Amino acid sequence: MEKFFVTTPIYYVNDIPHIGHAYTTIAADILARYNRLKGREVFFLTGTDEHGQKVEKSAQERSHTPKAHADLMVGNFRNLWAKLNISNDAFIRTTDPEHIKTVQGLIRILWDNGEIERRQYLGWYCTPDERFWTEKDLVDGKCPDCGRAVEQIQEENYFFLMSKYQKRLIKYIEDNPSYILPDTRRNEVLGFLKNNTLGDLCISRPKSRLSWGIPFSFDKDFVTYVWFDALVNYFSATMYLVPKKGVRSQESGVRSEKETLNSELLTLNSDSWWPADHHLVGKDILTTHAVYWSTMLMALKFPLPQNIFAHGWWTVNGKKMSKSFGNVVDPNAMIDKYGTDAFRYFLFREVPFGLDGDFSEEAFVRRINTDLANDLGNLLSRTLTMISKYRDGNIPDAVEDRDRDIEKKIKAWFTPGSESYFSKNYDDFLRQLQFHSALTQLWKIINETNEYIAAAVPWKEKDEDTLSNTLYTLAESLRLIAIYLYPFMPDTANAVWRQLGIGGSVGDFNIAETGWWGRLKSGMKIQKAEQLFPRIEATKENNSSVPPLTKGGEGGFENLITIADFAKVQLKVGKVIGAERVKKSNKLIKLQVDTGEIRQVVAGIGNVYAPEDLVGKKVVVVTNLQPAKLMGVESQGMLLAATDSEGVLSILTTEKDVKEGAGIK
Ligand code: ME8
Repeated sequence: MEKFFVTTPIYYVNDIPHIGHAYTTIAADILARYNRLKGREVFFLTGTDEHGQKVEKSAQERSHTPKAHADLMVGNFRNLWAKLNISNDAFIRTTDPEHIKTVQGLIRILWDNGEIERRQYLGWYCTPDERFWTEKDLVDGKCPDCGRAVEQIQEENYFFLMSKYQKRLIKYIEDNPSYILPDTRRNEVLGFLKNNTLGDLCISRPKSRLSWGIPFSFDKDFVTYVWFDALVNYFSATMYLVPKKGVRSQESGVRSEKETLNSELLTLNSDSWWPADHHLVGKDILTTHAVYWSTMLMALKFPLPQNIFAHGWWTVNGKKMSKSFGNVVDPNAMIDKYGTDAFRYFLFREVPFGLDGDFSEEAFVRRINTDLANDLGNLLSRTLTMISKYRDGNIPDAVEDRDRDIEKKIKAWFTPGSESYFSKNYDDFLRQLQFHSALTQLWKIINETNEYIAAAVPWKEKDEDTLSNTLYTLAESLRLIAIYLYPFMPDTANAVWRQLGIGGSVGDFNIAETGWWGRLKSGMKIQKAEQLFPRIEATKENNSSVPPLTKGGEGGFENLITIADFAKVQLKVGKVIGAERVKKSNKLIKLQVDTGEIRQVVAGIGNVYAPEDLVGKKVVVVTNLQPAKLMGVESQGMLLAATDSEGVLSILTTEKDVKEGAGIK
């Protein structure tokens, strides 16, 4: 059977899981579920990264051993994955004895082969942060993290000779265009490798300074930790956590280092699960995967993974997520409020995988109300209601000779070989991890099926066969829509099947058997319609008073406006001639701006700009906004400013010195 192996990063056990961790893990779940539907044997691996100074320190603060502390914390991840319906086949912990043996075995191989050297290490140590820095990391001779003084430390350490693989890695990435995706990230890695000299990688710490790591088997005074330990998880899991009757089973017990070395590590045969098909990671840890891990594998003479995909970063309401801002999104709270499937859907529909995204509860609620309650929910409830009313709750026969163009169009989406065959596009999208495009196209089908009801007007249909055919067409397309929904929203897909009267879970069937037109049996009894997604009423937090999204064109762009809409907005260049802070506000600045006439504009930029910096600047102002009062001060227009995903804010200005009052088109 064809194999498919997908991984997530192993998350630091000290963190409380948030939306970012959930994102990568759901992405892996979507791929795992889809590949199981395709009949592949799947190994979906996630887990936790448990060694290092931070864990050791937190454990000390709680008077726990590091392992007892990790045992407690790991529950946060396991519980969230259960709640999010994550179908991982294994959960690796870097404290697993088997993993430890593998790490020790691999270090030994590299040491024996001269890929690791023991050297004097001269570095700068920040005592409060307990971190080493190199000379070039320092900022004005101080710790780049906390700005405090650093002391120079000289100690022996072990180094992986990564530098010698620089050229080979560049060639590998160039020869294998899909090794690192998306392309922008691939270019970044190539740019980095071509413009910098790769150093060797320090992979040890003296035990006297860090005890919570994996001891070197041949030098008990040293431990390895974080990257050498963590990255190896992807390989070591294939040695003892593989599913079902793979060559290695979970019960294999702990082998000695020597046994592990001889019998396993050096023999990668056709039974091996290594290499992985996809390592999914956030862009923060792309270098460690693309450079450290790839060169480690080269040195071990192991095959490289098929693909490393670095996705984008979630911010919250335009701000970086951080404990100090108090804006960390807890997936548990979102699921309790809106449900698992709505959350899974939103994350992958809202933002193309690979790009950064901004989470707002308001946008989430809008998606629930439009896409889920309205589009999908209505299609199901209208179909079931009509089958109940007109056919006493039984799926009618398909009467093919009643097919009109409108039915033919729907059938074509689900008929192999047809030009509009959806399954082929969906498969292409999922193989390229374009989740957003798969969902956009699926919703196009859902919406066109809703339009089909309006075109077929079943409640006016006099011909019984035509009516039967219409009702069958609707039920059968819903059955198929559910199959393609399943990887993203498993419970919802199963609920659609259940309500249509089909037994079992979508996931129990192979898509090659179920994923095409005409498999729905007539005569089956449907169930009473249950609402899939209740509409969410506007509240202060979710503020769903925003108008619903308008549907976009082919490319999935949404909220498109016409040039006439745009022309309604009057934009002008203005010169700031006066600025002062609005009393009792940190954020608001009152500006006098010359846009051909003098107007007062209040802008929320006081966190970033001082009033004196603004005077004399050319700015861009919306001049035909209705005046509004901000903290009691009237604003006659709006200043344009850009905020990026890191929270950097910049006012817009003109590239050349354009006269104040100039129009902008
Ligand atoms: O780095 N947006 O673990 P970690 C999107 N243990 N994804 C995010 C995110 C955000 N704002 N924040 C976190 C580690 N993530 C190491 C990994 S792997 C061999 C060792 C996700 O707990 C994203 O996948 O800091 C990111 O790469 C990962 O969490 C970092 O998790």
